[in-house]
Amino acid sequence: MRMLTSGAKTHRMCARFLAALLLLSCIFAVVAARAVGEDTGVGPPLALVPEAPPLPKPGPLSEPRLSTQVGFPTVLTNYVISPSTLRPARVALGQKLFFEPRLSGDGTVACATCHDPARAFTDGRPVSVGIHGRVGQRNAPTVLNALYNKMQFWDGRVYTLEQQAALPITNPFEMGSASIGDAVSRISGDKDYQTQFMQAFGRDVNEQDMLSAIAEYERTLASFDSPFDHFIAGDVNAINDSAKHGWELFNDKARCHLCHALTDDQPDATLFMDNDFHNIGIGILRHHVAPLAQQAERELAQGHLAGIDTAAITSEMAVLGRFLVTRKQSDIASFKTPGLRNVLVTGPYFHDGSMQTLWDVMDHYNKGDGITNPWLDKDMQPLALTEPEIDGVVAFLASLTSPQYKAIGDQEYARQLALSRVTRPQRDTARAFGPKPKQPEPPPF
Ligand code: HEC
Ligand code: HEC
Repeated sequence: MRMLTSGAKTHRMCARFLAALLLLSCIFAVVAARAVGEDTGVGPPLALVPEAPPLPKPGPLSEPRLSTQVGFPTVLTNYVISPSTLRPARVALGQKLFFEPRLSGDGTVACATCHDPARAFTDGRPVSVGIHGRVGQRNAPTVLNALYNKMQFWDGRVYTLEQQAALPITNPFEMGSASIGDAVSRISGDKDYQTQFMQAFGRDVNEQDMLSAIAEYERTLASFDSPFDHFIAGDVNAINDSAKHGWELFNDKARCHLCHALTDDQPDATLFMDNDFHNIGIGILRHHVAPLAQQAERELAQGHLAGIDTAAITSEMAVLGRFLVTRKQSDIASFKTPGLRNVLVTGPYFHDGSMQTLWDVMDHYNKGDGITNPWLDKDMQPLALTEPEIDGVVAFLASLTSPQYKAIGDQEYARQLALSRVTRPQRDTARAFGPKPKQPEPPPF
């Protein structure tokens, strides 16, 4: 009996101990899952050992694009670069450097890690993951058509592709090299690079030519030839009726052309951006922006590029957007209008990758988000778009996919469509069809 009791007791204790363990491990799992969820949102599963994501290999999709694509803007391209001076030796060198992990501190991360040609030069994650698995604050934009950007990055902190390329190499959350010189020193002893630099620039491996070569390669990544381009060129059957209606809505009732076009009064069928910055209410509700703006004023020297770059990728101040660069209160949480080409295959969306589908994006615009956002752009307002109209704008956006990405585009369209029929976290029909709410005044600071 005693034995039994004590046996039973031991059993009970054991069971309790196990239950406690189980509970503990459950709590741990929940906490861990939360941490992961908060850092990366819904992305691919993270590696257990913190390390950089795998490095994509070059292939047909990383090759320079042709100027014979339907819709290729010859005049504009000649204006922003001089294609006749793009030298094949420089482009080839730049392409190789784009995939070169030795430019990173521990030899594991290259530009292509986050700008994977197979994913239209993005990483498919809400926010990027760099050296030692460090999770940044911003979504990686595509490099396709970046040659046409007047300013680079979501906050436009630099103008040229050369200036741009220097920053991720030393950013501690991206490639983490101690300096550009340090990165150069890791390839300068390589015989192949010595030959290629000599052929391309007529001198030894050096910092400036390395950045020029990368930029030169990026200038060959013009991406057009989409069904929409064929439609504009006169093939009326290139896109379906829903997409055609979507294109009309884009320039009218849906008000997209107010920002995604070079001028407000003319449809722009080329790049769908305005080289400007707007606060459209992304992420602002989740952050207390006023204290962050004060922190930026205190901690960041104005105009100090490396400081801004680090803050933008590694700190919560990322949400301040263009304000980090200009320090103008009206620029708080405003971001560069991105071009919309290949947008179907460059999700998740917005500077923080916070939206999963183009239907979520449309729901955001339809309700004219930002009720409690004093800095919201005046062009944001409820749109009263019906479901078929939303489907139409999405169909139009999907028609901007270049032929290289048709297969993954079709897959992605089906995935997003299916998701949109079961979950619409951004949808608020009452607000979409209601009056524009009164905008609060900016707080004093
Ligand atoms: C760890 C991921 C990561 C690596 C590595 C990386 N990038 Fe990026 N890239 C990003 C993110 C995230 C942004 C947006 C950051 C921002 O706007 O603050 C970006 C922005 C850009 C832009 C600006 C595009 C636009 O529309 O404004 C270009 C061009 C670019 N990267 C090219 C490169 C090149 C070239 C390299 C290698 C030298 C590189 N990237 C390395 C993640 C990465
Ligand atoms: C007031 C200016 C403005 C208007 C109007 C506007 N946009 Fe945008 N759009 C932006 C800005 C700015 C961003 C980036 C915002 C951010 O990430 O914080 C953006 C981002 C997007 C994105 C995400 C792209 C990406 O690569 O992540 C899509 C898609 C988009 N807009 C489509 C549309 C459509 C469709 C409409 C019309 C219904 C529209 N936009 C109306 C300024 C605007």
